[in-house]
Amino acid sequence: MSDAPRGPKSKEEIATAYKSEPWWYDVRGFFILTFAYNSTLPAQLRFFGPHFGPRHLELACGTGTLLELFLRWRRWKKLPEVDIVGADYAESMLAGAIHRFRGQPRLSFRHADAAAMPFQTGEFDTVNIANAVHCLPEVDASLREMLRVLKPGGTLAANVLLFPRGSWPLRPLADAINRWGIRKGILYTPYESTEIRRRIVEAGFEILSERVVGNCYDVMARKPQP
Ligand SMILES: C[S@@+](CC[C@H](N)C(=O)[O-])C[C@H]1O[C@@H](n2cnc3c(N)ncnc32)[C@H](O)[C@@H]1O
Repeated sequence: MSDAPRGPKSKEEIATAYKSEPWWYDVRGFFILTFAYNSTLPAQLRFFGPHFGPRHLELACGTGTLLELFLRWRRWKKLPEVDIVGADYAESMLAGAIHRFRGQPRLSFRHADAAAMPFQTGEFDTVNIANAVHCLPEVDASLREMLRVLKPGGTLAANVLLFPRGSWPLRPLADAINRWGIRKGILYTPYESTEIRRRIVEAGFEILSERVVGNCYDVMARKPQP
């Protein structure tokens, strides 16, 4: 495990750090995506957009900005509508998502800690966790919960922030953004791809596909059949 600083330990501190105006959250998100993750919105749409089973959990959904884009992308691609539960630990983020999707009966939202979710075992066909594994202080317990709430054979899609790669000026810029994120409490820690892969496997998942793109580890993993 790296000795690099990790963020606040308590979920309450993280939830408080995520209390910000929705417009600032979205603008800030764009800069973090571009310069820390070294990723783009189209890349995220292509990765997460196809991965919605008949009953889907969008974990750490935030205000639902990205979820809304996933759903628009799916409509554009003529992919089927599905039942979606969005979950997040920050009440302020969740309130934004509830407001955004009001009047849409196939979407519901629950306040949930990723490490102790209020869902039944085997309830979901798919789980997406976008831009958030590296925000979780209890990542191992959270990964075990993602496995638990999936049906056998169900699949997880996640992108995980890695310690910055590449060269000047992008690497020091990404490092500076990450240090700021950790101080602010919106980032717990970036990972080495080998470390987060090991944790995902130790939680009980089978890796289906994986790749490193920019400063992100994108992974598809499956809950094994008994
Ligand atoms: C960087 S945001 C990503 C939001 C959204 N998925 C997106 O990509 O726009 C990280 C989210 O993780 C949530 N989060 C942090 N710790 C959590 C936990 N223990 N359980 C559930 N959600 C958590 C935060 O509240 C925040 O909404």
